[in-house]
Amino acid sequence: MKPEVTYCGLTFVPYITREQIEARIQAIAEEITADCRDKNPLLLCVLTGAFPFASDLFRAIDTDAEIAFIRLKSYSGTQTTGQVREVLGLNEDITGRTIIIVEDIIDTGHTMFNLVNTLREKRPADIKIATLLYKPQALALPVKPDYVGFEIPTKFIIGFGLDIDGKARNLNDIYVIKENQPTN
Ligand code: IMP
Ligand code: MG
Repeated sequence: MKPEVTYCGLTFVPYITREQIEARIQAIAEEITADCRDKNPLLLCVLTGAFPFASDLFRAIDTDAEIAFIRLKSYSGTQTTGQVREVLGLNEDITGRTIIIVEDIIDTGHTMFNLVNTLREKRPADIKIATLLYKPQALALPVKPDYVGFEIPTKFIIGFGLDIDGKARNLNDIYVIKENQPTN
């Protein structure tokens, strides 16, 4: 892990290591394996940020499961816009299926709230939420994740899929924004 990294003029310091991430993903996969045996769950990976998490989680699940991808957008820079726009739709028929939404992070909950409501209209049997990171203090809407990797305070983080204006997704560890630096 690097002592610090800089993106878009902002400095970030180590926060969660790859080893810690791996351990939590393994634990969540075991829970899903136990909860969803014989249900053939469909994991819905929310692109782009969730793809490293979804890739590891999917392969760690030890029962039949399928994966599909959906693309949404709600963020620009470090501030949420509160706007959720479906960019790439879902083609699979999810009627009667057990759906597990796989997200990188739940912040205000706008993205997840909208996604769950959209999916409900398609009449799945069940919708579960797996998120690698969760900022409970930032939550503005009633969203309750079923599987959480890490609960974190309301701070901006990057790495392991999480970006700042498209950058830093390829970091293997998660970094948090350094305190007391000028932002604009
Ligand atoms: P929400 O709709 O406010 O819950 O925001 C969810 C989306 O915002 C996530 O899917 C991320 O793409 C993005 N996001 C929220 N917090 C962070 C962060 O700390 N770093 C990078 N992206 C974030
Ligand atoms: Mg996202």
